[in-house]
Amino acid sequence: ARTAVVIPAAGRGVRLGPGAPKALRALNGTPMLVHAVRAMAASRAVSLVVVVAPPDGAGEVKSLLDAHALPERTDFLVVPGGDSRQESVRLGLDALPPDFGIVLVHDAARPLVPVDTVDAVIEAVREGAPAVVPALPLADTVKEVDPATAPGEPEPVVATPVRARLRAVQTPQGFDRSTLIRAHESVTEDVTDDASMVEQLGLTVMVVPGHEEAFKVTRPLDLVLAEAVLARRRL
Ligand code: CTP
Ligand code: MG
Repeated sequence: ARTAVVIPAAGRGVRLGPGAPKALRALNGTPMLVHAVRAMAASRAVSLVVVVAPPDGAGEVKSLLDAHALPERTDFLVVPGGDSRQESVRLGLDALPPDFGIVLVHDAARPLVPVDTVDAVIEAVREGAPAVVPALPLADTVKEVDPATAPGEPEPVVATPVRARLRAVQTPQGFDRSTLIRAHESVTEDVTDDASMVEQLGLTVMVVPGHEEAFKVTRPLDLVLAEAVLARRRL
């Protein structure tokens, strides 16, 4: 089956602080989104990238991608996004041509994911998993707190899950196309990743090893780290 990637890039990047939409911020002179699209196009299996742009920025994103060469084998489409990540992904899926049986969803905010991680996800979907996520063990212990705490007050701990059984999940997440579309049609609650919607269908999501460089650029310190990683790669 042919593989397409949907890249949600429509977020504002509130946690990064004031400035351009996060996906359009430069990392060592090149917009984060361009790094992310190249990271996907680096996989020989990927023949289409659908970029979900900030709602008023589709034209700008299209010219940006026209100006930055992608491999001959890779086409791209640009569609405007929505108010939530979930809605943006759904708008990207709506734009997918029929002949792609495998769909990856990759955050524009994870511009540095290595191609081996992308290929490992695709390979596991090819081998029959309906949904595959790259993930890493946690460094920190995680505690669940009482959600009813007033803002600014110390939060009572209600549970400590066993750390060794937890994984921090990254993207690209890979899916059998019809499974992902069914998940987006049937799950209505807010979720923070696509694979959790497939879990809600009662299907088993599989984890493959993620990579430290697939971290999400979320807060200002992440920009420092991303630029240092690029400098180490001499990009
Ligand atoms: N995203 C999107 N559409 C939205 C919100 C988020 O396409 N309405 C995308 C972001 O562009 C990003 C990915 O989803 O590539 C992961 O989201 P996140 O890291 O939370 O980015 P933002 O929502 O932009 O950041 P923040 O939550 O700090 O505003
Ligand atoms: Mg967000």
